Amino acid sequence: MVTAAQQTLVQDSWDKLTPMASHAVELFYDRLFELDPSLEDLLPPSLVERSTELMQVLGQAVAGDLGRLAPVVRELGRRHRDYGVRVGHYVTAGDALLWTLEQSLTEEFTPRMKEAWGAMYELFSVLMIEGAKTRPVEPGSAPRGGLVAAASSGAAPGARQQAG
Ligand code: HEM
Repeated sequence: MVTAAQQTLVQDSWDKLTPMASHAVELFYDRLFELDPSLEDLLPPSLVERSTELMQVLGQAVAGDLGRLAPVVRELGRRHRDYGVRVGHYVTAGDALLWTLEQSLTEEFTPRMKEAWGAMYELFSVLMIEGAKTRPVEPGSAPRGGLVAAASSGAAPGARQQAG
């Protein structure tokens, strides 16, 4: 579960990370490949190149209505299964993410922020892993428009609700 206060902490730290996004992306992949060199074969260079753009999408998603986001994140997880992503990869990526935040934000990355990030990442990965266990959804019933649309549609700007 991510509380409203934790969501705010994640959003604030994400805003601090944005000006150093390309450096943070570099740190993240270096760390990820150090933790699991086999991931170099799984992650296409095109994804690495798109990462700062992806960061913006994720930044908007984590600031939006998390409850509304759930079906889209499950569907994202189903696609990830088809990319070849396995449960253990989420653990490795989570470790690399927290490490990157610590390195980038240094003393600004407080223990409460770290806890908030842990909860947010767990929420995303649990939903994605749930989605990975499902079949493809029927055409027409799938949430469309991706993470950003789901994060923003219907939610007041800056709405911070509890999700669990
Ligand atoms: C919270 C966890 C994660 C989030 C939010 C996330 C988000 C995304 C998004 C938005 C895309 C763009 C494509 C799409 O929408 O389907 C993507 C692609 C991809 N992600 Fe993730 N991801 C996560 C975890 C991981 C992990 C743990 C791995 C493996 C280590 C991974 C590997 C990939 C791969 C291989 C692609 C496809 C690249 C391509 O072929 O274009 N992701 N991810």
